[in-house]
This record gives sequence, C-alpha cells and structure tokens, in this order.
Amino acid sequence: MDVVLVGLPGSGKSAVGRRLAHRHDATFIDLDEMIERRVGRSISAIFETEGEAGFRGHEREAVHALGPADSDPRIRRVIATGGGAVVDPRNRWYLYRGRVAVWLRASPVILGSRLSHSANVRPLIAGRDPVAALRELATERDRFYSPALEIGSSAPAGAIVRAVEARAAAGPTGSVMTMRAETSIGRVEIGQGIAASSVYVALQRQQASRAILLSEPKAWEVAGAAIAAALAAGGWPVERILLPRGERAKRLRVVERISRELVRLHVDRKETLVAIGGGALTDTAGFVAATYLRGVSIVQVPTTLVGQIDAALGGKTAVDLPEGKNLVGAFHQPVAFVADIALLATLPTRQLRAALGEAVKVGCLGDERLLELIEQDGEAIARGDKQPFESGSLAELVERCAWAKVEVVTADERDAGLRMTLNLGHTIGHGIEAAAGYETILHGEAVAYGLRGAFAMARALDIVPEERARRIGDLLDRLGLALAAPRVTAEMVHEHMATDKKRGMGRLSWVLPTESGVVVRSDVPPEVVEIGLAAALRTAPPTHAMEASIRL
Ligand SMILES: NC(=O)c1ccc[n+]([C@@H]2O[C@H](COP(=O)([O-])OP(=O)(O)OC[C@H]3O[C@@H](n4cnc5c(N)ncnc54)[C@H](O)[C@@H]3O)[C@@H](O)[C@H]2O)c1
Repeated sequence: MDVVLVGLPGSGKSAVGRRLAHRHDATFIDLDEMIERRVGRSISAIFETEGEAGFRGHEREAVHALGPADSDPRIRRVIATGGGAVVDPRNRWYLYRGRVAVWLRASPVILGSRLSHSANVRPLIAGRDPVAALRELATERDRFYSPALEIGSSAPAGAIVRAVEARAAAGPTGSVMTMRAETSIGRVEIGQGIAASSVYVALQRQQASRAILLSEPKAWEVAGAAIAAALAAGGWPVERILLPRGERAKRLRVVERISRELVRLHVDRKETLVAIGGGALTDTAGFVAATYLRGVSIVQVPTTLVGQIDAALGGKTAVDLPEGKNLVGAFHQPVAFVADIALLATLPTRQLRAALGEAVKVGCLGDERLLELIEQDGEAIARGDKQPFESGSLAELVERCAWAKVEVVTADERDAGLRMTLNLGHTIGHGIEAAAGYETILHGEAVAYGLRGAFAMARALDIVPEERARRIGDLLDRLGLALAAPRVTAEMVHEHMATDKKRGMGRLSWVLPTESGVVVRSDVPPEVVEIGLAAALRTAPPTHAMEASIRL
C-alpha cells in the first residue's frame, strides 16, 4: 500500500514520512525532491524562472509518474507531498484514490515557529510574516487536505508515526473523497463512492435518531436503495418517502402529500431529511424542508449531473405552478451537500450532454481550466464513457462547477447582485425553455442556445473578442449542443422574456461574456437583442438589426 502525507509546509511530512518508511522497510518518496531530480533544478530556482504555474505543471507530472497505487497490503511506499500539491483536483484524485492519505494538521502558529527555525525556504512564505501566510494557506487549502485522515502534528514524531500506522492498518477504501469544505451554505463533499458514508456522518453530526430518505423511483433504484441498505447496516432506522419522478415532483400537491407523510411519521423539528435524486427532486424536497414545521434540516444527495453542479447547491428551492416554473419557493440551505460521481454512471447520455451546457457557462464565467477540460473530455463525458469517471476528469468538472457556485452564493446568498452572473445564457435560455415547453427541451440544452445568443450580443457590442466567441461556439458544436433550430419563434421567446422583464421591475439585465468573464448590462439596444435571439434560434439576424448594430 501507499501512504500519502499531506499538510501545510512545516507539518513534518518529510520527517514523519522518512521514519515511517524506515520502520516498514518501505520506499520514501519526497515529491518535491522528485521534482527537483526530474527537472534538474531546485524548487526555488523553478519558482524563480517558471513561476508558480510552471512549478505546478512539474508537480502534476511527478504525481502522474507515481503510477498506480501499490496493492500490497503492507506499507510499501510513503509519499510526502509538497504543501500545495493537493490544490490541483486531478492530483488529489491520484493521490487519494486507492492510497491511504493522512493529513498532518497543526495550527499556523506552531507551523510558523517551526518554519522560522528551518533552513528550508518555502517560496510561498519567503519574505512574509509566516503565521499570516500560513493562516491564508490554511483557509485556502483545508478543504483539500480534509478528505485525508486527520492526525494532529504537534505530538512527537514517534507518536505521529504510530498514529499513522494505526490509521493505515485498515488499508485504503474503495471510495475516494476529493474535497470536503465547511461553508456558510453547508458542508460540501465531493468524491466517488462516498454517498452512504457521507450521509452517515452528516446524520451523526445532526445527532439524528433515524434516516428519513426522500427520493423518487428511478433515483431510488440506482442510488437510494444502496444508501438505505448501508445506513441500515450501520444501525440507522430508515424511513423512505417516494415522490413522483422528474418535473412531476415539483407540484404543490406533492409538497402537501409529503408533508402529511412526515406528520404521520411524527417527524419533529430537530430531525433531518435526506434528499436523493435529480434537480426536480432536490428542489421539491428542499422546499418541503424549508416549510415543514417552518423549516427542518436537509442533506442534499444529487444523482444527476445538473444536480451536482448546480441545482442541489445554493439553497434555492421551488415548485412549479400551472402559470410557470419555480414560482413558489424559498431559500433554504442544506446542512450538507454530497456529490458522488459514482451515482452518475446510470444517467442517460442526453442528461449528461445537457448538463455540459451549464458547465460551459461556468467555464465562461472565468474558469479557463474548466473550459480546457470540457474541450478535452466533454465529448467522452457526454457519451457516458468510463474514461472520465476513471481519470478524475468528471470529478474535477463537478468540483470546479460546484465550487464556483459555492463562491458566488456565499458572497451573495439572496441574489442581490453577484449571483446574477450565474444567469449567463439564461435570459434567452429560459425564454426558449418556456416557449418550447419544458417537456421537449432540457434546461442545459436551453442554456446552450442562450450562450450562443449571449456571445452574439457581446460580439455586436464588441465586448468579447471574436476568437473567444468562436472558441465557445466550436465547443458547443462539438458537444452537440444547440445545433438544430429549436421549434420556437423569436416572438414566442420575446413574450416569455417580457414576463422576466416585468419581474425585474421593467428592466432586463443581461449577463454578457467578455474575454475572460462576464459583465452585467441593462442598456442593451433592442437590435442587439434581436441579433442574440437570431443566433440562439440558429437563424439569420434581421438586416435592420445588423445595420443598426454596425452603427453602434
Ligand atoms: N434550485 C436550483 O438552483 C436549480 C438549478 C438548476 C436546475 N434546477 C431544477 O432542476 C430540475 C432539473 O433537474 P435534472 O436535470 O437533475 O432533472 P430531473 O431531476 O428531472 O431528473 C431527470 C431524470 O433523471 C432520472 N434520474 C435521476 N438520477 C438518475 C440516475 N443517477 N440515473 C438514471 N436516471 C436518473 C430521474 O428519474 C428523471 O427521470 C428542474 O426542475 C430545474 O428547474 C434547479
């Protein structure tokens, strides 16, 4: 087996690692030394000449060069990583999967005093107040270290080594958690094969006395039943409540039925619900949790890609009315959000492909690496191939999208400003979705049409370079998104956008792409909107609109 040691600079990874390797006659690998040997220069020299980005590239190659995890049940290799190696999601996937990962944790004050006596200069700390620098690093990185088994690193090295041995005795698990974050909008956990154990821990933390699972028939079949069985095997009494499948769950009468079921089960205010399903299920279960007894806790376990990258995060819950979608709802944050990519293996390819429309949108908000990932692996993800599950690329996609949403929502939970940027591609997208009828077009597919429209508008206003617009257009083409003209007219979409406008107090604010992010504009001339609509509907723009936009 491989034991991987992670933690901030100064946490003793090398010292503990050498000692542990020595006791087991195992190979000790210091990742930083490995990089220096491979590149032929010291870490400081690499930082000086290639900057942090260059160093991280070498680090990624070194992590890959470790090869597959050692399957011997004895400790055969001990790998001490540089403090920042785990920032890269793909490094974490390789380092944590099939290996025993241990987080040597100490307070920034202790680490700072250790580092001030150390001859080894850490580039990210050099020249700064070490404690302040380490505090900053801890805030940024704890969520990356946290999936590893935590051991306090202030004890003497011998005691730490024995603690690591005790943890390693059970060997690696078949699952991998790549991120665990405590945020103001709930605990966020991402990984593969983690659903049951994460729900188990979430219920424990809630001091729950039973597991009350809300799901729907398909999600129950592919995910819920196994989670229920694992919880029951762990001693939890399990209650199951099934909602209708898909959008049919999002009805007020379903909310009433589920609430009455909760009364029948004597669910009290201190209890916690667990939602297992796609966005429609998590929206409805979230609304039930927001309103039942004026609010009970909920753990969200999304089983669709849309749910994992968007719907189940951020606390917006709602059901539909005959007059429109999501018209009755509430803000209600989950206590925990668990994204387990293993649950996506059974998802129909149309669902996967559509969700990528939303993922491309997140990339356009300013995540270059996410766009590159979709360019590289998007088609394989859309086909439901095994490779993106195996290579960590799907886990990285989920993490990048989910975390982008966490960052925006924690800064603007109630949609007062920044959260609006998440609406890139959504103004026209929602209009198309509503005009086409929600049964015929999926949300992510509509967003892809909306993105084409938003890029055409941004080109007409000259706020995005042509190259960027072409890149996103090509990517949507390759993903097979928003290719054929949707069966709606510009007038129909206009009509639905007018309803949005009324809700926005007479003004439509447009989120439009720039070279590396977005801007919000409420001064967009009608001709530019027509150009956007034409691009989204895959028709030629009206001549008068083109002439007017050239004069802009
Ligand atoms: N609250 C938000 O912020 C937010 C954001 C985006 C979307 N949404 C909402 O999310 C809903 C769409 O969610 P969705 O795209 O997840 O669709 P969905 O919830 O309707 O599920 C789609 C289908 O997939 C099936 N399914 C679920 N998990 C599966 C699995 N693992 N394997 C096989 N089949 C599975 C379901 O039974 C269903 O038939 C919409 O109602 C939308 O309004 C909400």
